[in-house]
Amino acid sequence: MRSDDFKQGSLFISDNGASKGVSRVLLTEQQVNARVQELGQTLTRDYSNREVVFLAVLKGALYFLTDLIRNVDLPLTVGVTSIERSLVDGEYNISSTIRDHSMIKGKHVVIVEDIVDTGHTIAALIKSVEEQSPTSIKVCTLLDKVSKREVEVPVDYLGFEIPPLFVVGYGLDYEEYYRNLPFIGVIEDASWDPVSELRAKSQKSNS
Ligand code: IMP
Ligand code: MG
Repeated sequence: MRSDDFKQGSLFISDNGASKGVSRVLLTEQQVNARVQELGQTLTRDYSNREVVFLAVLKGALYFLTDLIRNVDLPLTVGVTSIERSLVDGEYNISSTIRDHSMIKGKHVVIVEDIVDTGHTIAALIKSVEEQSPTSIKVCTLLDKVSKREVEVPVDYLGFEIPPLFVVGYGLDYEEYYRNLPFIGVIEDASWDPVSELRAKSQKSNS
């Protein structure tokens, strides 16, 4: 569905009986696409005459990555990485798995993310990429909820700073849904707290 066709009530999924609907459009596909094009041009300028590895965080950043690199005019390669969230002795722990180690060593790496919220995910990622001895690491994120930050992280390339809302579309999901929307929409009263989710899961498996 295009943002021009969006009407309140036209997009919702049922989550445990509660319907979770997109209440409004925050950024249209035209706004997103124009900004992605600008970011691609800036990266092309900043990395001229250098080779870059674009490392995307599964799954949300894939959508942004594929559009972004088509606006980058450089010799480049693409990698993916995933995040594992767990409770270790009751403490929230994020780790990441780099699948292709050889492609990072000695390279200029741009980490591509869909959204930075508290900053914990990016902080964990930077740490794991650093362990692979790249020449440089920069962070490129489409969205940033600056006001929610808990740990300081560098954001070198930013699409849009947004208020502390729960957003979906262009790769971002609510319970895995809505990734396919070409625009960024808002879900009112939705929140996602990975720590509580993990606690609930571990309580369930212990009982
Ligand atoms: P952080 O570790 O708190 O910075 O969270 C980053 C991750 O949380 C992102 O990679 C997303 O997977 C998820 N996330 C944070 N905010 C949103 C949102 O508004 N919509 C969808 N996913 C989100
Ligand atoms: Mg993500």
